[in-house]
Parts: sequence; structure tokens; C-alpha cells
Amino acid sequence: MLRGIGRGPFGPKSPPGPGTGSAAAVIDPPLAPAQPEPSPRNESAPSPRPAPAPEPEPPAVIPAARRGEVKADPAQEQYEALKRTIHTRLVDRLDMTRVGEMDPKTLRNEIRGVVEDLCDVENPLLNRNERQRLVNEILDETFGYGPLELLLKDDKIGDIMINGPKNIYVEKGGRISKSEVTFRDNEHLLQIIDRIVSRVGRRVDETSPMVDARLPDGSRFNAIIPPLALDGPVVTIRMFGSKPLSKDDLLKFKAFTPEMLAVMEGAMRARLNVIISGGTGSGKTTLLNTLSRFIQHDHRVITIEDAAELQLQQDHVVRLETRPPNIEGRGAVTATDLVKNALRMRPDRIIIGECRGAETLDMIQAMNTGHEGSMTTVHANTPRDALSRLETMISMAGLELPIRALRSQFASAVDLIIQASRLPGGPRKVTSISEVIGMEGDTIIMQEIFAFRQHGIDESGRAYGEFIATGIRPTFMDRLEQSGCHLPHDLFTQRVMLKD
Ligand SMILES: Nc1ncnc2c1ncn2[C@@H]1O[C@H](COP(=O)(O)OP(=O)(O)OP(=O)(O)O)[C@@H](O)[C@H]1O
Ligand SMILES: [Mg+2]
Repeated sequence: MLRGIGRGPFGPKSPPGPGTGSAAAVIDPPLAPAQPEPSPRNESAPSPRPAPAPEPEPPAVIPAARRGEVKADPAQEQYEALKRTIHTRLVDRLDMTRVGEMDPKTLRNEIRGVVEDLCDVENPLLNRNERQRLVNEILDETFGYGPLELLLKDDKIGDIMINGPKNIYVEKGGRISKSEVTFRDNEHLLQIIDRIVSRVGRRVDETSPMVDARLPDGSRFNAIIPPLALDGPVVTIRMFGSKPLSKDDLLKFKAFTPEMLAVMEGAMRARLNVIISGGTGSGKTTLLNTLSRFIQHDHRVITIEDAAELQLQQDHVVRLETRPPNIEGRGAVTATDLVKNALRMRPDRIIIGECRGAETLDMIQAMNTGHEGSMTTVHANTPRDALSRLETMISMAGLELPIRALRSQFASAVDLIIQASRLPGGPRKVTSISEVIGMEGDTIIMQEIFAFRQHGIDESGRAYGEFIATGIRPTFMDRLEQSGCHLPHDLFTQRVMLKD
């Protein structure tokens, strides 16, 4: 009778840990040294909390359809009741003071054994798949991120957007759709949020209702809760960890052409200063990650981010992360502080995940003073817009500089602006590669080398157009040659390179 509701096992059964299958092993576990989940920020985090203890809460009912919200499904209800019973029994048996001290992996294995035993006691009629699913769901609820685990395991999902406990949207292939997954209520969603942020030493409550964090796989996590969010906690997750896109993936997706890649690669090797500009979710960070692979391995790179999401492939990388103020409003460390400090750390290149404010000036100055090959991203819709945004950030930060002086700093610091865009229907493309060549009067002069021209939208709503070479040969070709990057002469001949 439970048939037909299962969605199959999540994966292979974990190997049994010592004492698996025995409730006694969990009630009286061997004392393992405390090993909090490895997290790169733990060292610097203000009073990081220990690895979270299992939640003494009955598990949530997951998919809306299965919850019988529309129409009660007796088999489903029975399944959920069984899950709740087993979870309650499990929590009764746990010694909460001990579980916090145990190695999470060992603990999970031990508890898996106990849950499997409880399953057999409560309902020996479950088939193998159903039993496996039940055990996994209870473990997800106890140790993982509850209903969210289901979405986090789906590597086709790029973004998860949770608008309160019942409205969850996901983005797949550039398109947004509503997911079946739901949380029980606000309280349940808040528990999961708290579990995620406490792992990286942050907190979320009424006095600090907005938080940035990172999942163990590197995915970016943001939560904003009531009273700021009016309809329950809102969570936005940008998935990264499972499938970082490679240059080959991006070529396959026609995000840019091989010619464009050759120039971007050359720019990296020749230590050009690069700004990646784009709207929200246009693929800036992805591009930064991909291009960073071309940085020489003997270069010392320092990255500065609000919530670390860059995944550089080099060995010699120092990752720094800003810190929000503590509960008394003190102890904040800004990107500006970190850029200043980074300059004393003998960097070859500095990468700022995203320029939002005063750090822009420090970045530009660093680019002008021997840290060539630095990079950052900025929210802007065109390359020219990117420069004016940066200018605005500096003047908004109260840094009084004559506009002409500022612009000439930009003109000499920035070599290349790469524009990323998310086009209608989902495709993400590099829509412009422009060189900054200097100043004329008060104006910064730029020239576009490659571009994507959109011609329309097809029946499915997807944008189409063509990548073109504008016919302009960049002035930095000498620098590319000097760094050993020899590009064919006809690379820049004016033409349509690729239609998509
Ligand atoms: N060319 C591409 N084709 C398909 N998917 C892409 C492409 N570039 C990026 N993505 C995916 O799009 C999502 C957004 O990318 P990314 O985080 O790089 O954007 P962003 O511009 O940095 O966003 P934000 O403004 O939120 O920081 C990610 O899930 C990423 O894997
Ligand atoms: Mg980004």
C-alpha cells in the first residue's frame, strides 16, 4: 500500500559504523574527540558554535502533493505518521549531551543503524526502497537540512529561492519553476536556517535578521527573516559546489566563442586588470572562477569576498572573508579593511569577489601599483555603465576626488571589461569584451573587440543572435605577445563568429 509513493533510494547505504544496529551504541557512544564540520571560516569566525546537535523535532512532511494538501492520500499519511513515530523514538533514545561530542560521520552511521532497527520494529512490511527512503529522510532531518536536502542533491538546480515555508522556487537551465518541496511551517524553516548559519559562526534572529553564509559545498546562502521579510523567512541559495562550470562547459553552452576565450585567457596570462560586469545572476562569479584557472600557478593570489564562493584552482591562494558586526554592533571587518591588509601580504594579484563600495578605490589603486592581473566583478548592464557604477561607489563612500583624477585612475588601472548577461529565456553569455584605452578630455575611451548581438526571441521565448568580432585589434596585443600568448592575426577580422 505504500507502493508508488517512493522516489527510490537516495544513494548507496553507508557502511555500518561500529556498533551499528545497536541502540546502546548511541545511548552510550564511545567518546570521540569533538570534530566540528570542517569549515574554512571557522578559525576567524566570532565564537563559532559547535557542530549542531540533532534536532529533537518530528520530521517534516515533504512534498506538497504527498502531504495530501490537495487531497489526502492515506498511504502517504501513513508513511508520514510512521516517520514521525520513528523520529520521536529516536530522539527519546538519544543522549543529547553525548551526540554533540561525537564525530558527525560516526554518529550518522550509528544513528542510521538505530533508525533501521526502529524501522523493522515499527513496520517490517516496508520494502527495501521505502525503508531506505525513510531512513534517509529521517537522517536528513536529524543531521542535514531537512526538506532542503532533496533540492541540494539535484545538481541541475542553479538557484533555490525559498519564499516562506510553502513557496519554494528553483532555477534549472535559466528557467524558474515552483518546487513540490515544502517546509512544515516558519519555525521549521527557521531551524534549518539556524543550523546552516551557525555552522559558519553566524547567527540569525530578530536583532540580526539578514545573514550571508555558505553551505559546506561552497554554495552561497542568504537568509532574511521576519520582521524584515513579511511572509516568513526567505532564503536564496546559489548552488556552486556540485558542478563548477569549466571553460569547456561554457563553450558548449555558447557562453562565448573560442576566439573570445583565447583573448580572455591571454588577458589573464599577461596580467591585464579585468572587470567582469553583469546583472544579477548573469554568470559573473562563474566567469571569474573559470578565468582564474589561467593565472600562473606561482602567483600569490589573495581573494576578498563577503561570503566566499570563488573556487580558484591555484595552490597559492589566500582566501579572506569580510565579517559583519557582532551583536553589539562591533567587530565588523569590511572589504576595504581586507584590501588594505592584503596589500601588506605580498600579493601578486588581488581578486575581489564583488565591488560594492569604498573598497573600489583601494582596488583601483592596487591595480595601479604593481598588482596587475587583479580582478573584480560589478553589477552593471554595459561596460560603460560598469565604470560609472564604480565611480558612483567611490563618491558615495565619501571619498572626495576630482572626477577627472578618478577617471584617469580608472583609465590607467582597468584594461579589460567583460560584460556578462542573462538573456531572455535563460542563456547566459558574454555579450561584450571591451578594452579601456585611455582618456580623451574627461571621458574614458573604450573599444569593443567582441560582442553578442541579440536579434530576437524564438518561439520558446529564448533569445537568439550572433557573436561578432568588431574588426578592432586590441592595443594590448603586445603585452599578450610578451607573455608568450601568440594569437592568430585574423582572430580579430570583422565577421560573425557564431550564431546561437
Ligand atoms: N554560461 C552559463 N551557462 C549556464 N549557466 C551558467 C552560465 N554561467 C553561469 N551559470 C550558472 O548561473 C548561475 C549564476 O551564476 P553566477 O553566480 O556566476 O552569477 P553572478 O552574476 O555572479 O550572480 P550574482 O549577481 O548573484 O552574484 C549559477 O548557477 C551558474 O552555475
Ligand atoms: Mg556573483
